[in-house]
Amino acid sequence: MSGLALETYCSQLKALLERQHTELALIEKQRAESAESMAREAMLRAQKADRAKITFLANMSHELRTPLNAIIGFSEMIKLKIGASSPEYADFILEASHHLLAIINEVLDLARIDAGKMELEEEVVSIRELISGSIRAIQPLAEKKSIKFLYEPEAVQESVWADPAKLKRVFINFLSNGVKFTPEGGQIAVASRRSKNSDLVISFADTGSGIPAEQIPIVLEPFEQIEDHMTRENQGTGLGLPIARALARLHGGDIALHSEVGVGTTAEMRLPGNRIRGGAMVANRIDLPVLPATSGNSLEDRPTSEPTAG
Ligand SMILES: Nc1ncnc2c1ncn2[C@@H]1O[C@H](COP(=O)(O)OP(=O)(O)O)[C@@H](O)[C@H]1O
Ligand SMILES: [Mg+2]
Repeated sequence: MSGLALETYCSQLKALLERQHTELALIEKQRAESAESMAREAMLRAQKADRAKITFLANMSHELRTPLNAIIGFSEMIKLKIGASSPEYADFILEASHHLLAIINEVLDLARIDAGKMELEEEVVSIRELISGSIRAIQPLAEKKSIKFLYEPEAVQESVWADPAKLKRVFINFLSNGVKFTPEGGQIAVASRRSKNSDLVISFADTGSGIPAEQIPIVLEPFEQIEDHMTRENQGTGLGLPIARALARLHGGDIALHSEVGVGTTAEMRLPGNRIRGGAMVANRIDLPVLPATSGNSLEDRPTSEPTAG
């Protein structure tokens, strides 16, 4: 190889090495940037979780203090015998105590669910009876706001293999939300249907305030409520929907919300078809053992949380 050729070869090699060096530096820079953006994202997530916890504590101390103050105040009055003969005070104390207990129980239940300690006590349950019982439980609240229930018990045929207390809890939460967030004179339609893949879907459709689409995934998370805790008119911990979702998932089902602001909200609970134990559409069905419930959801035709028209 001549001196000139060697020189050319060397300079080409140098250029190549330099290019490779630049490319490597670029790759390294990109890698560092993506690591940085991942770290930033993780930090934002942690900050958001922190904020949720702080808001929760603010909400909880407000929620817990209100009934506690009532209990303490009225008990003191009884102790000082100011109007102690009035049975009203006893009513206030009782009401506040029940409210306090309900909040504490919800918090503990969610903790138990989170720890995987909630178990199902299953039996054959008539969905019609469960819905009727849930409506009866919520009727006094509904009457105060002249809210009507549209429900045809004869149309609900199915019995299911499930934990009745836990299903009822889901129904009562949906109904109480419906009553809370529906103005005077509104209505709540309760119905059941079979989905394309034979799941049982029980729906509660109200004519209330509705939930903005972007808030739907948020209200399904623990402690999240749309109204600010200091300004809102409705009582609650924001735990009802997360508990309802966890209970539905324990059964291998799920819950979904469809809503349009100013029109209303439909809350649905789905139970997998293999839990159905009777009803017109499955009269000839042979009962199969129930598969163990999974926390995930493999059901097809799964509802989205998109708002539906109408
Ligand atoms: N049917 C409904 N109509 C309008 N908003 C609703 C409805 N159901 C739930 N929400 C919204 O979701 C939030 C969370 O509901 P939930 O978890 O049951 O908690 P809580 O009833 O204790 O407020 C409610 O505070 C409300 O903002
Ligand atoms: Mg609720």
